[in-house]
Amino acid sequence: MEDKQFTTQFIAVLAFLFAFTIIILVIANSMYNSDAKLTDNRVQQDIADRIQPVGQVYIGQVPAAADQLVAAEATAVAVAMSGDQVYQQVCASCHTSGIMNAPMLGDAAAWKARLVKGTETLYANAINGIGVMPAKGGRADLADDAIKAAVDHLIGE
Ligand code: HEC
Repeated sequence: MEDKQFTTQFIAVLAFLFAFTIIILVIANSMYNSDAKLTDNRVQQDIADRIQPVGQVYIGQVPAAADQLVAAEATAVAVAMSGDQVYQQVCASCHTSGIMNAPMLGDAAAWKARLVKGTETLYANAINGIGVMPAKGGRADLADDAIKAAVDHLIGE
């Protein structure tokens, strides 16, 4: 008799657990609808962002935007350089050694003789070139003001 009672209760418990499992499954499924999630635009966007390539290779023509970026950077560098920096980078090769009779940095007498022409003339000659000296010392990309600052550095020392 006890065996039968046990069996009945055991089956009842099993049935309850089975029903409970089904209910949990139904609730979980309604809370998380995987198909709806994957077709969601924002989810798609997130996935695209995560798997996008780290870099892109441009073959052929550089896009206009990148071109402008490079130009802007070059201008920024040219503008940001001080007279001393321009001198070191561009002018020093000739004006420190005095090669081809370039008036040397620190040669007060040589600069005094040239300053007779006026500072504006020296600026103009440095920008446009004079004798064997190329325009802007060969750095046509530099701003006029950068060259003027370098001239100031040259004649001031
Ligand atoms: C390739 C060599 C060379 C470079 C680089 C060079 N110069 Fe000269 N520079 C000369 C020579 C040579 C002269 C003398 C030219 C003459 O009197 O015929 C000269 C003359 C000058 C003069 C005197 C101009 C005048 O009217 O008397 C100035 C100012 C000057 N350079 C500034 C600069 C500046 C600033 C730079 C750098 C941005 C520079 N130079 C780069 C060779 C150079």
